[in-house]
Amino acid sequence: MAPRKLAAGNWKMNGDLAALEQVDALCAAHPGPRCEVLICPPALLVHPMVSRIGAGPVAVGGQDCHAEMSGAHTGDISAAQLKDAGATHVIVGHSERRADHGETDADVAAKAAAAHQAGLVAIVCVGETEAQRDAGQTLDVIAAQLAGSVPPGSDAANTVIAYEPVWAIGTGRTPSNDQIAEVHALLRERLGGAVRDGADMRLLYGGSVKPDNAATIFAIANVDGALVGGASLKADDFGAIIAAL
Ligand code: G3P
Repeated sequence: MAPRKLAAGNWKMNGDLAALEQVDALCAAHPGPRCEVLICPPALLVHPMVSRIGAGPVAVGGQDCHAEMSGAHTGDISAAQLKDAGATHVIVGHSERRADHGETDADVAAKAAAAHQAGLVAIVCVGETEAQRDAGQTLDVIAAQLAGSVPPGSDAANTVIAYEPVWAIGTGRTPSNDQIAEVHALLRERLGGAVRDGADMRLLYGGSVKPDNAATIFAIANVDGALVGGASLKADDFGAIIAAL
């Protein structure tokens, strides 16, 4: 079983071959077995990153995968191909994928199942929009996304859940500690009844995690780490977040 604490960086559509250099610093600064560190670069950089860091302490993941393992799907990438390139994880159902590509909960569940089939850990993202929060629908939205996006066969070893409020992504705004705690408690409670060893499934928070708020967020009950966007692009900032785990 992987360590409980996980710091995952999502580079989104950022970075190039030259940016791989900063991963060396992260490998050197890795705090050891108490936590797991993962970087999810654009798909084109997965294999070069794996080649550069080898079997080092930092894992490499994809940002999306197709629900099928191969076939006529121009421009898509399969979980099997990510695995072949050396990835160990893949993010599925990020709100940017849901918004930009119309991915439904069923699509996300199918992608997570494909990840499991390929031997990858699926990081399944859920999160409410600002309008949904303002309408008092947050817990219902999260519960529905969780129920629809986590496929049968999910367990603490093959699945991580990331709670990313859409309105907190890239905005510098974060929910209050109580708001994060409320959603994570719901996730924990729902997973407990729905999947094997749900009590042990890791729950990440994502959305404007920075060096100066990481320690506070990591101290919240049921927060097992973070899915970090912008701050994961700078080795110093991501290193400081990892150190706060
Ligand atoms: O997946 C990570 C993400 O959406 C959060 O992005 O830039 O707010 O840390 P950011």
